[in-house]
Amino acid sequence: MQLTNFISLLSLIVAVTAYPFMANYDKMTEVEKREFTETYRRMAKRSAAEISSKYPYTGAKNDGLPGTQVGNVLVPAVGDTDHQYQDPPAGAFRGPCPGLNAAANHGFLSRDGIVTFNELVQAQQNVYNVGYDLAVVLATLGVGLDGDLITTKLSLGGDATSQTSALGGSREGGLATHNKFEADASLTRSDYFLNNGDNYSFNGTLFGFMTTTCNKVFDRACMTKYRAQRYEQSKADNGQFVFLPTALLLYGASSFLYELMPTNGGGPDFATISTFFGAKDNGDGTYSHVPERIPDNWFNRASPYTLTDVNNEINAQYLASPVLFGFNAGYQNFLALNTTTGIVNGKFSPNTANDVACVIQQAVLAAIPSTIQGFITSPLTALAGIAGRINPIFSQTFGCPAVTAGVPLV
Ligand code: HEM
Repeated sequence: MQLTNFISLLSLIVAVTAYPFMANYDKMTEVEKREFTETYRRMAKRSAAEISSKYPYTGAKNDGLPGTQVGNVLVPAVGDTDHQYQDPPAGAFRGPCPGLNAAANHGFLSRDGIVTFNELVQAQQNVYNVGYDLAVVLATLGVGLDGDLITTKLSLGGDATSQTSALGGSREGGLATHNKFEADASLTRSDYFLNNGDNYSFNGTLFGFMTTTCNKVFDRACMTKYRAQRYEQSKADNGQFVFLPTALLLYGASSFLYELMPTNGGGPDFATISTFFGAKDNGDGTYSHVPERIPDNWFNRASPYTLTDVNNEINAQYLASPVLFGFNAGYQNFLALNTTTGIVNGKFSPNTANDVACVIQQAVLAAIPSTIQGFITSPLTALAGIAGRINPIFSQTFGCPAVTAGVPLV
């Protein structure tokens, strides 16, 4: 058998396995066949541009494995036409994460915004020099909470179940799903209940608020201050405000402004941050939105940003301005949380970054079953897969005990 035929056959087998309805192809009407072929053509086309040996970036391939972790690389490389900026194609999915939106707009992730686990691990390393351990944890969180555990596909924005799900049926809401990874009190996105369910679009008023608070320098001190302001705002205004232990991840996202977005050797200045966020200055104190992009002549950080680094940053920001975990049961009726993870009467008292890590580990694993209940025939296999990836990272690096997936946190 010729190689090309073999590959076609292989892709058909993969498709039939991943999309069982394909087995019924012969029974379809001509209209259904055309519709199906068009859908499959679009799905097959969907992938990030390949990383070539000419432009290796930090050396990560589309295989879920570590790259070189050596940064200070120009992104995108001069001459690498596959990874130059393009507007998102019509119908593409973009959502609450400016970092992933920018990566998709440069073809490091599929430009249509339906991405896989391996692509996420690869793109984070190649674009931002995210450490392999953190890249795996974030990709597992994204796919595990908001995507499909069989196809490992995830929409960067809203519901794209027909394109992400192996089995169809239950909804896979993508990264904008509320109260899984996405949460209230975001930096530049509105709260779900304050904006008719739009918790993913860029909000120029919030970007302006952040810019004024930070006086255009988005460093740790300022992000700590602004994050605390956003918490107080949401707690006061949003009768359905929720701030669970997974919200520790929001502090991680805040650290990305000063740890991942600056060009190597540079700082978190206004030009850099507004380019990554797609914030267009209207010149009158307001901001509108254009697609996110990597600034011109931008080099990624020299050393990888690891799980230990991000835990240290979460710890530092949280301890500088501690807030209660809990939720509003109605307007300005805040109830503090008690959990098995060291949060007592809403107060979290971490001593070290390891404590933060262990809470994140538990929060992640506790949150997984809600996404898979009812539509994966063998949930335990999927759960074991996620736990199998997450537990060793946390135990080896932080000494956290292994956690069983699916045990409720609160
Ligand atoms: C697989 C990897 C990643 C996933 C699944 C992910 C997912 C998300 C999600 C769900 C949010 C919304 C959180 C909220 O409600 O506030 C978010 C926010 C954010 N992400 Fe990512 N992210 C990933 C990697 C990255 C990377 C590599 C960057 C690099 C710059 C980044 C930058 C940000 C920033 C700055 C925010 C805050 C946006 C805001 O609050 O306005 N993310 N991310």
